Amino acid sequence: MDKIDIVAPPGPAVPPSDLLRFYRYFLSEHKRIFAWLFVCGFGVACADALVSVFVGKVVAFVGQTDRWKAWQEYWPTLLVLLLTIGIVRPVLIYVDLHLRNSFLVPGVTSRIRWISHWHVVQQSWQFFQNDFPGRLAHRVMHTAGALRETAEAAIRAVWYLTMYGGVSLFLLAQADWRLTLPILGWFGGYVLLLRYYVPRLRERADGSSQAYSDLMARIVDCYSNILTVKLFSYAATDNDHVRNSLLSHNEAQLRHMQMITGFMTSLTVLNTLLLIGTGAIGVTLWLNGHIEAEAVAMALPLVWQAASTGGWVAWEVSGIFQNLADVRQGMESIAAPNTMTDDPDAKALRVSAGAIKFNDIGFSYSPDVKLFDRFNLSIRPGERIGLVGRSGAGKSTLVSLLLRLYDIQDGTIQIDGQNIRRVTMDGVRSSIGVVTQDTALLHRSVRENVLCGKPDATDQELHGALQQARVIPFIDALQDDDGRTGLDASVGERGAKLSGGQRQRIVLARTLLKNAPILVLDEATAALDSEAEAAIQEQLEALMHGKTVITIAHRLSTLARMDRIIVLDQGRIIEEGSHDKLLADGGLYASLWQHQTGNRLPGGDHSSFKLPIAPDIT
Ligand SMILES: Nc1ncnc2c1ncn2[C@@H]1O[C@H](COP(=O)(O)OP(=O)(O)OP(=O)(O)O)[C@@H](O)[C@H]1O
Ligand SMILES: [Mg+2]
Repeated sequence: MDKIDIVAPPGPAVPPSDLLRFYRYFLSEHKRIFAWLFVCGFGVACADALVSVFVGKVVAFVGQTDRWKAWQEYWPTLLVLLLTIGIVRPVLIYVDLHLRNSFLVPGVTSRIRWISHWHVVQQSWQFFQNDFPGRLAHRVMHTAGALRETAEAAIRAVWYLTMYGGVSLFLLAQADWRLTLPILGWFGGYVLLLRYYVPRLRERADGSSQAYSDLMARIVDCYSNILTVKLFSYAATDNDHVRNSLLSHNEAQLRHMQMITGFMTSLTVLNTLLLIGTGAIGVTLWLNGHIEAEAVAMALPLVWQAASTGGWVAWEVSGIFQNLADVRQGMESIAAPNTMTDDPDAKALRVSAGAIKFNDIGFSYSPDVKLFDRFNLSIRPGERIGLVGRSGAGKSTLVSLLLRLYDIQDGTIQIDGQNIRRVTMDGVRSSIGVVTQDTALLHRSVRENVLCGKPDATDQELHGALQQARVIPFIDALQDDDGRTGLDASVGERGAKLSGGQRQRIVLARTLLKNAPILVLDEATAALDSEAEAAIQEQLEALMHGKTVITIAHRLSTLARMDRIIVLDQGRIIEEGSHDKLLADGGLYASLWQHQTGNRLPGGDHSSFKLPIAPDIT
């Protein structure tokens, strides 16, 4: 059997959102493994049935009066049966175990996880904002195991029992057709039991699984926002939420388990009836001379094995339904249609000059509130734009639209005349260097965080960027819990081990290294102290050279050197022009400026005006 290439890129098809097709999508690459498992399952079922045949033969043999004559007659049959049970059966079991434990459990599960992650990670930003990261991660991890487990259990248990039942019926019918009656009745009862219990078990398993996910999401949400919880002494309230989720899950699980108790008890009664029925019919037939002792001795262990297998199969079936519920739930995330994809024939964006044009765009996060309506803005190649406006005016959103983190509902956004909707998203994002407002870092080393900007950067380029962003001064002192230092030190979850300003400098270094033709700075220096900001501002000047730049800042002093300042309010441009013009106009900008500087400023040359760093306007 070939080794499974776990991390091979999956084909272009996306996971279907129909349960059966979802299974086929993930399992069809492993057809050969499953075919062999079916063969082994059939072989083991036959060999198991032969154990009862062997018992019957031994009883027949030891019941003979002329023992040595009987030995002559019986030994070849007994030997063949013994070899089958003693050699063929263990070999088949070994092959079966080997396939499961070397290919299915580690290989196929990891493969399904990889393909699931591959699809989930391509989902839009909005998709991630609408869900809990913990729940998504749980679904990707858990669905793979549940999916593999259902397929495996179906072969291990359902297929096995069906095959064993078929062979048993054949053997019993050979002795006397009446011997088959109890086991046929048992099968009928078993199917009825399954029909009654399975949908109910399924419903309760669904409920229990949903309650488990909710509980998990609540706990992850609490831990990942632990600072907010602590700062606002919210632990008691939040614990109430967790407690309620925990109690709901407990209740749902209890209902599920009670159903299992009912099922297993009914099955035990059914099994007992099977054994008594077979014994009674067997003995009656023997008393009337219709069958020999051999048949009775074979029939009893044969049906008892079926009965005890029935209990185990029932357990497996309930597991299958629990897992099916989990797979169905995981499918909601893994097979969710991706609302933002590249056109099939999309080409990479080619940025020659860096002109940006918003043409009559319309955008809203929710259907009832329109944030941008027929919004227009043209940015010339190499122009430096400052975006100002009150909190919530739509500045960050405008930049997100340019990065195609969301699709606009009307109009077009063009970069150098190319509609960003018609080129690849990767192309757009690799042409724009961004320092975002929320400077979360990956939970990796400083080096990896900076190299995000350009994974193949040389050491020299890396150090240049670190130097420019003023990362070097604090990096030597970094040490993580595993004793790694400097560039190799881990920054902690979302960069928690660094100060806000240090995080921002790492993000700046990353953007400097990326060196993209368009630059977006959304409150890029807001977290820095004034000394560091002044130092970095010079580096940024150098970085901005020859690039189209959009700078968003609440500290207006940061914007004084921009070519044009755009003042946004509720998704509309209410003022635009140079710093001087806007001050002279005496509108919102002038009033914000006045608030920040504390001066009433008449017109004049303010671009050379040196300010103390003013507090945010928000
Ligand atoms: N993911 C989102 N889903 C729904 N509404 C959003 C989302 N992000 C922002 N908004 C809303 O859109 C409006 C504009 O938000 P945006 O973040 O663009 O403002 P901003 O100008 O960058 O503000 P700030 O100066 O505070 O950063 C706000 O009213 C905000 O509530
Ligand atoms: Mg913002």
